[in-house]
Amino acid sequence: MKNKVHPLTNEPTMKFHIRTYGCQMNELDSEVMAGMLMRRGWSETASEEEADVLIFNTCSVRDLAERKVLGKIGKLERLKKRPLVGIAGCMASSKKEALFQKVACLDFIVGTNNIHELDAILDEALERRKVCHASPQFTCELDYEGARRKDGVKASVSIIRGCNKFCTYCVVPYTRGREVSRAPEAVLEECKTLASRGYKEVMLLGQNVNSYGKDGPGESCSFATLLGRLNEIDGLERIRFMTSHPVDISEELMSAIGELSKVVEYVHFPLQAGSNRILRKMNRGYTVEEYLEKVQKLRSLVPDVAIGTDIIVGFPGETEEEFGQTYALIEKIGFSNSYLFAYSPRKGTPSTRWADDVPKEAKEARLQKLIDLQNRITTEHLEGLVGKEVEVLAEEVSEKDSRCLKGRTRTWYNVVFPGMAKELGTLKRIVVEKVIRQTLFGLVV
Ligand code: SAH
Ligand code: SF4
Ligand code: F3S
Repeated sequence: MKNKVHPLTNEPTMKFHIRTYGCQMNELDSEVMAGMLMRRGWSETASEEEADVLIFNTCSVRDLAERKVLGKIGKLERLKKRPLVGIAGCMASSKKEALFQKVACLDFIVGTNNIHELDAILDEALERRKVCHASPQFTCELDYEGARRKDGVKASVSIIRGCNKFCTYCVVPYTRGREVSRAPEAVLEECKTLASRGYKEVMLLGQNVNSYGKDGPGESCSFATLLGRLNEIDGLERIRFMTSHPVDISEELMSAIGELSKVVEYVHFPLQAGSNRILRKMNRGYTVEEYLEKVQKLRSLVPDVAIGTDIIVGFPGETEEEFGQTYALIEKIGFSNSYLFAYSPRKGTPSTRWADDVPKEAKEARLQKLIDLQNRITTEHLEGLVGKEVEVLAEEVSEKDSRCLKGRTRTWYNVVFPGMAKELGTLKRIVVEKVIRQTLFGLVV
């Protein structure tokens, strides 16, 4: 690991800034990269203008996300003192060297599976050579222990990378490669270390946590077994996870969620569409009936479970009637929250063989209908909690009122209540008093 002088200013250490787009896996990858740069002796700056090295950790999931980041990097051309500029993340993996043509001021490219090579990549980039490392497959464990974590209450922990599902619209299998589970011992060790450093909640991350352990050699440890082992860690209070693919959720896992005291009663369970024809075209691997059966089973094994979802509207060929089926299903199931998206064709994915034929206006109208519906359902759930007691982890001081703390219920709802900074990281019993803009307000019992 070399520590070079800055090629422009001759200063021995550099200031870096990482701008993160996309999902929580990208957030965690950014924390790992920041940790690596700090061990190089570099320091992090919150200001993009001040940075000698700027890394954009990008997302490819929808077209808009890509265009935004390219536009932003393009503007750096005009700067007089130009920083070293790098693209990491999913765009780096999917577009590779082609990015050098798109943005002239780009110096280096770090694929999602090449983060462990960041030091070597920077050494080359510092010599003003354009460098691109973007491997199709994840092969080397990252230094998660050295990650520069954001706060002291919650931490994300990667348990499985990649995706084997190949939904026809989705770019992720091409940007992150096939599924690779982390060894259960490594996950346990990391969570124990986090707990000993005072972290109270872990969020276990994977595109499909339910297939954890299925890819490994030899005897596998299922996700449910892993949860059981993590539940034993002293000091840890809560265990969250995302995302749960409907095909791979087992009864064993549902029971574990119901029985393990630290595992929260919240499942992110993407439905994507309410029509069997569209689900088949999406290659999701389940029918509406099968999905509903799993929801029922989940609700019977995990009382008071909150179920969140993802939906895509305007998939190629989606008729008004098929959209109506999605609408009706959301209403019937009563999700606690949904992430709603308009279909965006991604180059190289199978769905591009069908015309993106739902007009923009129709997509927007469908999206708006679902937003209104979900707002109504969420508000109903929240209002049902008024007068009831909920468990909240005190996670941060409220920005709006320094005499209040903010946190989440086990079921992922936001709660604001009176409290002081020294109480951060403790679990509180809160009686809910009112709901304002989908946030619960309450008093400590
Ligand atoms: N692994 C997760 C999802 C990861 S991507 C799962 O299978 O559920 C997050 C969400 O982005 C997806 O659930 C989907 O709703 C949305 N998404 C993915 N590709 C998309 C595309 N091409 N257009 C619109 N939304 C998309
Ligand atoms: Fe994409 Fe489907 Fe994999 Fe989720 S399960 S990451 S939507 S391919
Ligand atoms: Fe985006 Fe890649 Fe995550 S495409 S959603 S950053 S896995």
